[in-house]
Amino acid sequence: MPFGERAWTRQDVAELLASPGVAGLLLEVNGGDAGLAICRVAADEAELITIAVRPAYRRRGAARHLLTAVITHVRSAGARSLFLEVAADNPGAQRLYEQSGFCAVGSRPAYFRRGDGPAADALVMRLDLD
Ligand SMILES: CC(C)(COP(=O)(O)OP(=O)(O)OC[C@H]1O[C@@H](n2cnc3c(N)ncnc32)[C@H](O)[C@@H]1OP(=O)(O)O)[C@@H](O)C(=O)NCCC(=O)NCCS
Repeated sequence: MPFGERAWTRQDVAELLASPGVAGLLLEVNGGDAGLAICRVAADEAELITIAVRPAYRRRGAARHLLTAVITHVRSAGARSLFLEVAADNPGAQRLYEQSGFCAVGSRPAYFRRGDGPAADALVMRLDLD
């Protein structure tokens, strides 16, 4: 994630969505925004840049639904693998990715900056799309 774990501004998201190969998927429930995923495809590799679900809609399959849509999109755009970085202390998200078939392939020490506190390590995960 290019912005660490600070809150993203509308401008952050707008600039990201204007970048080559980047797509955003918005999940709406009853006309309101429930969740968002942003991904990027470059040649045959894709990256899940972020995925987030509003607290009121969590644990109802929203992220799984968004992830399925991301996988469909990047595969149709020609990607053969999908990568992501997840904080080592975010077991819920890791579980989500494992359930979708992602495997841990590496780590990045002190990758996520968190204000004045210690940075968190990231786990790099990959999904083979072949
Ligand atoms: C992580 C996040 C996207 C999950 O969204 P969600 O819509 O609640 O996830 P889902 O309901 O689709 O969950 C799918 C599976 O993931 C796992 N999971 C998701 N959240 C979990 C949690 N808090 N604790 C444990 N497992 C969790 C479960 O296995 C779940 O299946 P189950 O509910 O049948 O047990 C959401 O908690 C969130 O927005 N968190 C803040 C942002 C974030 O951490 N994003 C990931 C950055 S890499």
